Amino acid sequence: KEVKKEFPEGFLWGGAVAANQCEGAYLEDGKQMSTADIKARGFFGGLRRDADYYPTHKAIDFYHTYKSDLKLMAEANFNIFRTSINWARIYPTGEEETPNQKGLDFYHDMFKYCHELGMKVMVTISHYETPLYLVDTYGGWDNRKFIEFYMKFVRTIVDNLDDVVDYWLTFNEIGNAAVKPICWDAACIYPDSENLLQRMYQAAHHQFVASALAVKYIHQHSNHAKVGAMIAYKTVYPYTCNPKDVIAAEKEKRKEYFFSDVQVRGKYPDYIWQYFEENNIKITFEEGDEEIIASYPVDFITFSYYRSRVVSSEETEAAEKIIDTNTLEGIVNPYLPKTGWGWSVDPDGLMLALQDLYDRYQKPLFISENGLGAIDTVEEGNVINDDYRIDYMRKHVQAMQRAIEKGVDLFGYTMWGPIDIVSNGTGQMSKRYGIIYVDLDDEGNGTGNRYLKKSYNWYKTVIGTNGKDL
Ligand code: BG6
Repeated sequence: KEVKKEFPEGFLWGGAVAANQCEGAYLEDGKQMSTADIKARGFFGGLRRDADYYPTHKAIDFYHTYKSDLKLMAEANFNIFRTSINWARIYPTGEEETPNQKGLDFYHDMFKYCHELGMKVMVTISHYETPLYLVDTYGGWDNRKFIEFYMKFVRTIVDNLDDVVDYWLTFNEIGNAAVKPICWDAACIYPDSENLLQRMYQAAHHQFVASALAVKYIHQHSNHAKVGAMIAYKTVYPYTCNPKDVIAAEKEKRKEYFFSDVQVRGKYPDYIWQYFEENNIKITFEEGDEEIIASYPVDFITFSYYRSRVVSSEETEAAEKIIDTNTLEGIVNPYLPKTGWGWSVDPDGLMLALQDLYDRYQKPLFISENGLGAIDTVEEGNVINDDYRIDYMRKHVQAMQRAIEKGVDLFGYTMWGPIDIVSNGTGQMSKRYGIIYVDLDDEGNGTGNRYLKKSYNWYKTVIGTNGKDL
C-alpha cells in the first residue's frame, strides 16, 4: 500500500464554535436562561445569579451577525462549520410540549445559509448549554429524567433540521461530566456538591444512554447524517520513566478512554469496575441500558486537542511543579512552551493522539477543536500580526499530516473559535482564538467590529491548497 503523503481529497477544513459563546441574544425570540448564562465574567467568575456582567448574554452578537461572519469564513475557503444548538432556544425551559418555532427557524436559516456558502454543517447537540430551569427544578444529569428531556430535544431538531445538517455530535467533551470543576458545564452538577464523584459518573451513565438513543433516532430518521462522539483529548505523559509514574499515567489515560470506549465499543470497559470500587461509585443501570449502549455506537470520533498533560505517582510526586490552568491542575512539562494560560503547546501530542485513537478504534477521526488562546494587539489600521497563532496552527497541521502518513484515517479539522468568542473556561473575550478579530473587551465594551488577522490569510491559503502550502 502506498504511504499517503498529503491530506486526502475532500478533506474538511473549517472552524468550530458553541452557541452560548457567540450568539448572545440570551433572552431573545423566546429563549430563556441556559446553564452558561449564570457564569459571571472574568477568571473564575463563578456560578452566580447576582453578578454585574455575564459574557454570554451578549457575547459577540452572532445571533444577529451570523450572515456576515459566516461569509468571512466561507471567503477563507472553509468547507465546514461546527456549532451547537442552544437547547434553551428550542425548549426555553426544557419542559414545553411544543418547541419554540423561532428557535428552529433561526438554526434552519443559519445552516441553510452555510450550505449556500459551500460549507457543510456539524452540529453539537449539547455543548454546555442546558435550560437552566431544568437544572433548578431537577438537579443535574444524574437525574434520569434528563434522558427524556434530551431525547425530546433531539427528536425535534432532527425532525426539523436534518435536511441542513451533515454531522451530529451527541455531547461536547462528554468526559468532562466527570471532571471538576467543568462538571457544571457538562453534567449540570455544581462542583461543590456532596458525593460529587458518584453523581458525576451517574450523570455520565445517563449521557451514554442518551447518546446511544440519539444515534438510534438519527440513524432511523436521516438518510444521510452521521453521528459522532466528541471527547476532550489531552495526551498524557508520565513524569519520569519510573514505572510507578508510567502506571499512574496509564491509570489517568483510562479515566479518559472510558468515555470513548463506551461510546465506540458499546460497553463499559472491564478496567472501570476497579476504579468504581476504589472510589465507592455505584452506577444504577436500568433494565435495557446495557443493550441500548451496545446497539448504537457512534459512527466516528471527534475530539478537542489543545495540550498534553503530565502525571506522576505519589512516589515521584511533583507537587511543586503543579500549576492551575483554570480547567484542570497539571504538572508543568519542562520540555514544552506554555500559553499565557499555562496550557502546554505540544503538536507532537496531537500526532500521538491521532495515532492512539486510530489504533484503539479504527474509526474515522475528526479534530473538532484545536487552537491557541492568546492576547492580540491591534496595530494601526486595525492590523493584527498574530504570527504566534500561525506558528501554533502550522505545527498542529503538520502533526496531522504526519499522522496521516502513519495511516490514520483523519477526515477533517475545525479550528476552535475562528472568530473571537467568549472563553468557556474564563469568560474572557481577551483569550482569543480567532483568525477574525472582534472588537470587544472583557466587559463587553467596544464597537463589535470584525477585523481580519494575519492568520486569516494564512489559513485561507492552507485550505485553498488542501494543506500543501503551510
Ligand atoms: C473546549 C470547549 O473545552 O475548549 C470549548 O469545548 C472551549 O467550549 C474550548 O471554549 C477552549 O477553552 P477556553 O476555556 O479557552 O474557552
